[in-house]
Amino acid sequence: MALIEENKSLKTYNTFNIDASATYFAEVKQADDVIALLHHPVYQKHQTLIIGGGSNILLTQNFDGLVIHNQIKGIEVIHESIENVWVEFGAGEIWHNCVLHCIKNNWAGIENLSLIPGYVGAAPMQNIGAYGVELKDVFEALHAINVQTGETVLFKNKDCHFGYRESIFKNTLKNQFLITKVVLRLNKSPQFNISYGAIEKTLETQGVKALTIKAISDAVIQIRQSKLPNPKMVGNAGSFFKNPVVDSLLAASIKRDYPNMPFYPNNHKTKIPAGWLIDQCGWKGKVVGETGTYKNQALVLVNHGKATGREIFALSEKIQQSVKERFGISLQREVNVV
Ligand code: FAD
Ligand code: EPU
Repeated sequence: MALIEENKSLKTYNTFNIDASATYFAEVKQADDVIALLHHPVYQKHQTLIIGGGSNILLTQNFDGLVIHNQIKGIEVIHESIENVWVEFGAGEIWHNCVLHCIKNNWAGIENLSLIPGYVGAAPMQNIGAYGVELKDVFEALHAINVQTGETVLFKNKDCHFGYRESIFKNTLKNQFLITKVVLRLNKSPQFNISYGAIEKTLETQGVKALTIKAISDAVIQIRQSKLPNPKMVGNAGSFFKNPVVDSLLAASIKRDYPNMPFYPNNHKTKIPAGWLIDQCGWKGKVVGETGTYKNQALVLVNHGKATGREIFALSEKIQQSVKERFGISLQREVNVV
C-alpha cells in the first residue's frame, strides 16, 4: 500500500519549478497500489492529480487534494515477429531512457522522439510528437485503471482518438483513467525519417556517413539542445501553446503582409508556428518580472526563478491577447493548467 505523505512540496516534481504544494501525496509502484489507493479515505474524500515527470503542467495554486506520482516501472518484450517487436513499458519509466533502450537494442521507431522530457504514461495523453513522428505512429495499446471503478481497461490505438497534441484522455475521458502500461510496436529494420526540419543538415554537419537510428537520435538531441531550455537550468514546460491550424484564406492574407511566414499545409487548412506569431508580436526573450519567454524560442514560457504559476498564466494571457489582436488567431494552451 502506498504511503500517503502530507503537505508535500511539488517544486521538484514540475519542470516549471513552481513552488506549490500538495495536501496529500502518494507514489504508486504497481497497479495494485493504485487499486488499494482507490479504497483509501483520503482518495475518496479529495480531488486527485496524476503526475509523471511534471513537464507538461502549470501549477497555479497549491493542490488541495491527493497527488498520485506514477512510479510503475518495467520494460518487457511481449511479442516478436520477423519485422517487429512489441515492447511493454511501465508508465513510470522515463521516456528518454526508453528511447535509449530501444536504440541500444536496434528497435526503430521512436528515435525522432529523443529527449522529450517526462514519463511513458503521459506520452499518450497528448500523443507526443517531434521531428516528423508522433507516438500514434508506433503505439499499439495501453492499460489503464478506471479511477472510479478500479477496472483495468485496454485501449488500442484507434480507441485513443489521437490527433495533433490530442487524445481521448485529454477530452471525453479526462481525469477518468490512470495509465499503467504502454505497448509500442517497433521495427527491427528501420525506416529512417529525416525529412523534417534540420535533421538532414545536422547529420551532414556531424559528418554522418552511414545512417543509423543512433545517428538520428544524436542529431535530434543536438537540435533540441540548441533551441529548447534545459528545465534543470530554466523552468519551462516546452511549447506552451499548440501551433494553430487556421483557415487557409486567413493564412494567405497573413502571408501577403509577412512573406517570410513559415507554414505547413494541414488537411485543407494551414498550420502556422505559434512561436513565429509570438515572436512577431515582440515577445521573444522578453522578461516580465520572474517570467518570460525563452531567448531562442518564443513559444517556450519560462520561470526565471521565483515565478508563481499564476504569473506565468497571466503572461500566457497577455501573449494570447497580442496574437489575437495582431493576427486574429486564438492560441490554445498545450500545457495542462492545474
Ligand atoms: P506530466 O506533466 O506529469 O502530466 C501531463 C498530463 O498527463 C497531466 O494532465 C497529468 O495529469 C497526465 N498524466 C500523467 N501521467 C499520467 C498517467 N500515468 N495516467 C493518466 N494521466 C497521466 N511534448 C511533445 O509532444 N513534444 C516535444 O517535443 C516536447 N518537448 C518538450 C521540451 C521540454 C524542454 C519540455 C519541458 C517539455 C516538452 N514536451 C514536449 C512536453 C512534455 O514533455 C510531454 O507532454 C510529456 O509527455 C509529459 O510527460 P510528463 O510525465 O512530464 O507529464
Ligand atoms: N519560430 C520563430 N520564432 C520563434 C520560434 C519559432 O520564428 O521564436 C519559427 C522557426 O524559425 C520555425 C518555426 O517557427 O520556422 C517552427 O519552429 P520550431 O522548428 O522550433 O518548432 P515549433 O513548431 O515551435 C514544434 C513542437 C515542438 C517540437 C518541434 C519539433 C508544437 C506546439 N511544438 O515546435 O514540441 O519539439 O516542433 O518537431 O507543436 C512541445 O510540444 O512541448 C514541443 C517542444
